[in-house]
Amino acid sequence: MDSIHRLTPLFTSQQIASRIDELALEIKRDYQSRYPLLLGILKGSFVFLADLVRCLDFPVELDFIRVASYSAGKITSGQVKLVSEPVASLTSRHVLIIEDIVDTGLTTDFVGSWLKERGPASVRLCTLLDKPTRRRRLVEVNYRGFIVPNRFIVGYGLDMNEKYRNLPGISVINGE
Ligand code: IMP
Repeated sequence: MDSIHRLTPLFTSQQIASRIDELALEIKRDYQSRYPLLLGILKGSFVFLADLVRCLDFPVELDFIRVASYSAGKITSGQVKLVSEPVASLTSRHVLIIEDIVDTGLTTDFVGSWLKERGPASVRLCTLLDKPTRRRRLVEVNYRGFIVPNRFIVGYGLDMNEKYRNLPGISVINGE
C-alpha cells in the first residue's frame, strides 16, 4: 500500500545525536585498544552507523551483513535469511553488531549465531532502538540508544515498505 501515513515524532535529530555521543563514549571505553569490526545490519542501520562511526575517534573497521526478515510492511515472516555476508575476515575479531532496532530479536539472534560459527574473539550488540515487549528470542543488548513502545517506528534509516528511511528524526506511524 502506498498511502501517506500520519507520523508522530518520537526523537528529534538533536536527541538522537546526543544519545549517540553517549553511546560512543561507552564504546570507546570498551574497544579503543581492540580495533573492533563494526558490522552494520542492512539496510536499517546505515544512518545510525554513519553517525556513530564519526563519533569514534579511534581506529575501527566497518563492514555490513544483509539479512531479510520483514517480507511486507510490518508483518514479520518469522524467518531470517542471509542476503549478503561481510567481506572482512571475522576470525579472532572483536565484532560489534550495529542494528537499528531490536524487535522480536530474531534478526540479531540469527546474526549472532552466524557470526559465532566464524570464530570471532567476541561479539556484542549495539542497537539504537529496543522494543523489548515484542521479544521472541533472548538477546543481550550491550549498548542501547532508546527503549521504544510497541508501535511501528520509521525514520533515521527505519522504513515502512522502503519509505521514510530518509527522515532525519524518528517517528511513530499513527494507527499502525
Ligand atoms: P526483529 O528480527 O524482529 O528483531 O527485527 C529486526 C528488524 O526488523 C529491524 O532491523 C528492522 O529492519 C525491522 N523492524 C522491526 N521493528 C520495526 C519498526 O518498528 N519499524 C521499522 N522496522 C522495524
